[in-house]
Amino acid sequence: MGEAADERDWWRSAVVYQIYPRSFADGNGDGVGDLAGIRGHLDYLVSLGIDAIWLTPWYRSPWADGGYDVADYRQIDPRFGTMADAEALIHDAADRGIRTIIDIVPNHVSDQHPWFQAALASEPGSSQRARFWFRQGKGADGAIRPTGWLSSFQGHTWTRAKNPDGSDGEWYLHLFTAHQPDLNWTNTDVRREHEDVLKFWFDKGVAGFRIDSATLLVKDPAMPEAPADGVLVESGHHPYIDRDGIHQIYQAWRRVADSYDPPKVLVGEVWLDDVSRFAQYLRPTEMNTAFNFDFMTRPWDAGALKASIDLTLSAHEAVGAPATWVLSNHDITRPVTRYGRQDSSFAFAAKRFNTPTDLGLGTRRARAAALLVGALPGSLYIYQGDELGLPEDEEIPPDAIDDPMYFRSHGVDPGRDGCRVPLPWSPDPATNFGFSAGDRPRAAWLPQPSWWGSYAEASQDDDPQSMLNLYRAMLKLRRSLPDLVSGDFSWLPAGSADVLTFRRGDIVCLVNLGASPVPQPAGQVLIASSPSDGGVGADSAVWVRTKGV
Ligand code: NOJ
Repeated sequence: MGEAADERDWWRSAVVYQIYPRSFADGNGDGVGDLAGIRGHLDYLVSLGIDAIWLTPWYRSPWADGGYDVADYRQIDPRFGTMADAEALIHDAADRGIRTIIDIVPNHVSDQHPWFQAALASEPGSSQRARFWFRQGKGADGAIRPTGWLSSFQGHTWTRAKNPDGSDGEWYLHLFTAHQPDLNWTNTDVRREHEDVLKFWFDKGVAGFRIDSATLLVKDPAMPEAPADGVLVESGHHPYIDRDGIHQIYQAWRRVADSYDPPKVLVGEVWLDDVSRFAQYLRPTEMNTAFNFDFMTRPWDAGALKASIDLTLSAHEAVGAPATWVLSNHDITRPVTRYGRQDSSFAFAAKRFNTPTDLGLGTRRARAAALLVGALPGSLYIYQGDELGLPEDEEIPPDAIDDPMYFRSHGVDPGRDGCRVPLPWSPDPATNFGFSAGDRPRAAWLPQPSWWGSYAEASQDDDPQSMLNLYRAMLKLRRSLPDLVSGDFSWLPAGSADVLTFRRGDIVCLVNLGASPVPQPAGQVLIASSPSDGGVGADSAVWVRTKGV
């Protein structure tokens, strides 16, 4: 790709590393990750071989939902650092050729946001309340919720507010926790404010935004009951999921993003089963890319993954957008754990404590999965710690759990903290396994298991067989092989229902998801997920160069 094209189209094939700032690295020893910690590890990211970082929300927030409850979009949370730290991070990363993507959370704000505080202090019908969804309750005294809509975080979606005089008043809508009131996107203040926030950060040099809960913004003002799961979702007429009117919002955002040179990028968190509706968000006038969750939720099964790859590629091709490949994020059970289970698919509703896991098997599969996604056309997202092969931490003591999904399910759902445990950088438990700077840091905000150090960067650095060195080698090859950026994709005859094999230009990727070895494709082996003695073993993958050998 030429330099000018690279400046504009980098996101089409980029490797994006997701940072959960609270758990990446702690630069001041208070037990909480921060921007100084990230700045101190930029060279690690360079050596990993990534093109961009995506940071989950860094704004001022009470952290009722890990920062997805924003109290002020124009300030950095003081536990993360200052605005100067953010500017320095964007700058230092750019100096190393790494672009910065940040998160925007347009569906809701924190209940501590000045707008919501003003709404609570104002009368029903006021312009302050009109920025949210306040409604009278049902029944003679208004004590019944306006609708029975259920939250994806479990439980109800309405909380009753007080009138300014202290009496029981209207209810407000929150699709997530009660600390995250939903904004009303028919309100012009809401639209204008978000476009201003985009510009505020674009002007500071961020390369793009990841858009949180991107399908939920538009609600039916009539507030009808939500039909049983799934019904209406594919029609554009569900009361709050993927309503047709939503596209105007992203078209306006794209105009803002495209007004920059080079244009900025919008990446959507679009959870939709219907790929044709998913693809609508990726039309040339809307978002640039969106996370491909379909692939991530599928089990370790050749047929299921092949079907997902085909579905993904054809849906994206129809709108001219590149696919994304995502094995996990800060909401999802870590791949080495997921792939080590009898049911290796992912669904929020199915998460339970004490699910038997074979981590050896899961790790072997996660290594093969890394080579699979690394060879597919499009961009690649790597969640911090997956390159270390971290398993889900399932030993967090109940009194240390922080995630509202655990509390709202009354402890039935283990929540998402197991994939958010502060990263191990060294085997030294006294420094929270190298997570925290200084000799005597405070304990990490989420406890780390005693065995965490064996996964540390320093423990893997010199081991050629480590997950870290597999990722490094894979990303280095990906960078050096233009076929993996622009080579045509085609399936090759697999010879077995348990094998996936495809070509990207002169490179062949073969993934054996079965239990017995299969023959290696002819050519020069560039990388293998497991040691090979001529064949490709169970749950293993290889990349082979077939020409010029
Ligand atoms: C999706 C985010 O990834 C998740 O962490 C958050 O809890 C919800 N959206 C609500 O903002």
